[in-house]
Formats: sequence, C-alpha cells, structure tokens
Amino acid sequence: MAQLWGGRFTKETDQLVYNFNASILFDQKFWKQDIAGSRAHVRMLAKQGILTEDERDQILAGLDGIEADVESGKLEITQKYEDIHSFVEANLIDRIGDAGKKLHTGRSRNDQVALDMKLYTRDEIGEIDALLKKLLETLLSMMEEHIHTYMPGFTHLQKAQPITLTHHIGAYFEMFRRDRQRLSDIKERMNYCPLGSGALAGTTYPLDREYTAELLGFAGPTLNSMDSVADRDYVIELLSALSTIMMHLSRFCEEIIIWNSNEYRFVEIDDAYSTGSSIMPQKKNPDIAELVRGKTGRVYGALISILTTMKGLPLAYNKDMQEDKELTFDAIDTVKGCIALFTGMVSTMKFRKQVMEESAKNGFTNATDAADYLVNHGVPFRDAHGIVGRLVLYCLDKNTSIDDLSLEELKEISPVFEEDIYEAVSLKTCVEKRQTIGAPSELAMQKSIEAGKAYLANS
Ligand code: ARG
Repeated sequence: MAQLWGGRFTKETDQLVYNFNASILFDQKFWKQDIAGSRAHVRMLAKQGILTEDERDQILAGLDGIEADVESGKLEITQKYEDIHSFVEANLIDRIGDAGKKLHTGRSRNDQVALDMKLYTRDEIGEIDALLKKLLETLLSMMEEHIHTYMPGFTHLQKAQPITLTHHIGAYFEMFRRDRQRLSDIKERMNYCPLGSGALAGTTYPLDREYTAELLGFAGPTLNSMDSVADRDYVIELLSALSTIMMHLSRFCEEIIIWNSNEYRFVEIDDAYSTGSSIMPQKKNPDIAELVRGKTGRVYGALISILTTMKGLPLAYNKDMQEDKELTFDAIDTVKGCIALFTGMVSTMKFRKQVMEESAKNGFTNATDAADYLVNHGVPFRDAHGIVGRLVLYCLDKNTSIDDLSLEELKEISPVFEEDIYEAVSLKTCVEKRQTIGAPSELAMQKSIEAGKAYLANS
C-alpha cells in the first residue's frame, strides 16, 4: 500500500478497504495526462515564484524520466499505489528527492483528477472524431458509386417508394455528420481548465490559473472552484453523444442484417467480416453487425450509470465520482472499436444491384407516382388516391403489378390513363423525377455529394 496520506491515522487501512478504494487499476489509463497536468502546474508555480527555477527543472526532468520509463516498460504501474496521482508523485520523490515533494503545492487530487479526466476525454474526442471522419469518407465514396443502384425505400419496413442506395447511405452520412458536430460542441463547452481549484475552495498561493489553462490548451480557467471539482457534465454529454453514435451504428447494422438475410439478399458481407456456425455448414452469419448492435446497450448503460451517480451528490467532490471512469473508458473503447469495424465491414460489403432493383419494382412502390400522374391530368389528389387504391387491389387479385397491366385494364379503372402512364411509373422516372433538395434523383444526390465533399474538406 502506498498512499499520499496517513499522518492523522493511527491504524493501517484494512486491505479490503484499500482495494475497494483504490483506482490505479483503471485510472492508469490517463497516466500521460496526469504527467502533462503536473508539468503545467509546476511551470506555473515557478513562474509565480512559488517554486524556484531549479526546483521546476528538477521536477520536469523527473517527470520526463517517469514518462520515458513507463513508455519503454522499464517502470511498471502497479497496484502498490492507490491511484495514478500517487504513482507519479511517489516515483518523482524516489527519483529527485525533496524537490519532488513540492509538486503538489497548491493542488488537490480533486482538481487534479478533474483535469486528468478532462484531458483524457478531450484527447479521445479527437480520436473518435477522426474515426467518424473516416467512416464519412467511406460512406461518401459508396454514395458516388451507387447513384443508379435502385432499391425500395421503406416505411414501417413495408416497401414505400423507390430510392437509390446513394440516397439511403446519404441518410446515415447526415447522422454521422451530426455526431461529429455534437462532439465538437462538447469539446468547446468543456474546454476550461479546473486545475488550481484545489480541494474545493481554491488555494492561498498566488496561482496563475490562466497561465496553466493556456499551457494545457484550454480556452481559459473554470470560473467556480466548487463547480470545477464537482462537474462531470462533460462526461454525461460525451456519453450521450456516444450513445447516439451507437444508436446510429446499430440502426445501420440492423438494416445490414436484414439486407444480408436469405429473404432479402441485397448485400453480401465479406467473408472477412462474417463467421460460420459450428453445426450448420451452410451458415455465414453477420456477427460483426450483430455485435455492434449488441454493444449499444453497454454504452447506454454507462450514460445511465453516471447520471444516476451524480444525481444525489452534494457539492463539492465526493468519492462517488470515481465511478465516472471505468464506464466512460469502456464506452469510449467500445465506440472506437465499433466505428472502426463497421467502416471495414461496409467498405467490403457487396451489393446485389439486380436483386435490389427487382425488389424496388414490385410491392407497388410506384403507386404514389400513378396517383401523381392522375393529379397532373386534372384528377383531385384524394380521388386519384382512391383510383390507384382500386388499381392495387385489382393487381393483387391478378398477382401482377401496375406496370404490367394493359392500357385497356387501366382505362377500365380510370379513363384518364394514356400510353405515357408506363413511362410515368417506371422505376427510373419515379426516382429521377424526385429532384427536390435531399430527394433521391441523380440531380439532387449529386448536389448532396458535392456538399458532403466540401464539408469533409473543411472539417
Ligand atoms: N481516484 C479519485 C477519483 O477518481 C481521485 C480523487 C481523490 N480525491 C480524494 N479526495 N480522495 O475521483
């Protein structure tokens, strides 16, 4: 047991209590951020004349040594220490002696851990953002490729109107674009430095908090020392954004699982991203898509967990807040893994264009267009809707489709139909006539693709 306190205690901590309390097993994850925070703190202390330049240089050299040795594996972070803060400080003192004991001047582990967690999550937001950007690039190149890959668009998982694969993928492009914007909003809002807030009430040393904040790349210091050590809003916001990313991935996975089924056969997932069955030799299962869908639950769980942990906490710091870490780390790692795997899976998936197009042709996906045809020939929409409804009933009875009826049959239901109805309800017309912003026609989708390219070039 190695801990930073003990002066006012007359007994050793019970081993079980020590284990229960210790956080080194998980907070070692931000060992680099802990060192970075200490460097900034020490530079500020020296600038303010609280430490001498010589003490500062000794401490900085000691921290460099610890960093290099942990990096190379020469120094191991072990459970001998209560937390990562104790590990760094104890090692520093071992290395440089008395000067090391001055590192913690004007600092508490409360503002230190608040800083470390912020630095860590800020770095991870950058990584998640880069993964999302790569996913968006992949989706955009798929959009460019499939501008004429026709497929049914669904509502209620019932065929509704024909669209293209570009249009469908474009919907997800928008979702993941918003996910990136959410991350960037969070980063901006959280980017204030809590260091220098002490345990809860600031310190009596003349710290320059603005300088520390600047050294660590923050927009400025946080403005209330109680809030600084008690705030985990950014963790909640991040987990909420991560939950939304998982929700988007999961919806896409669900569609891929459906499209990959024997009934649909729209896509074939690459062998590298599928698995077999131990008993049924014919099986090729979409496990990766299922796992991404399945892992959504644990990320939601992390969000609910931290919300619940925080809801009853009086100001300022409480040890409950140590519970923010494991779940957040797990959620971050889960999301990063899922985005990377998902990107690989979709970029190697093969689409069966013919099957998709055939599917778009049946199921009366052109019924709205048949009604629109009548409207364009002077029939009020409500009447046109009724006429086409009867048409569909007739087709169902004859087991055929609107396009396959003869003009005589069509005219029997409405004399307004003429030869040009066939062109009007063809799959191509149904898609290409839809030219409003965001609609599936080539014209509209080319504009979306251009806008997507411009966005990716500038963000
Ligand atoms: N491991 C602690 C945490 O994660 C560090 C802060 C400890 N502060 C304290 N007063 N015991 O929150």
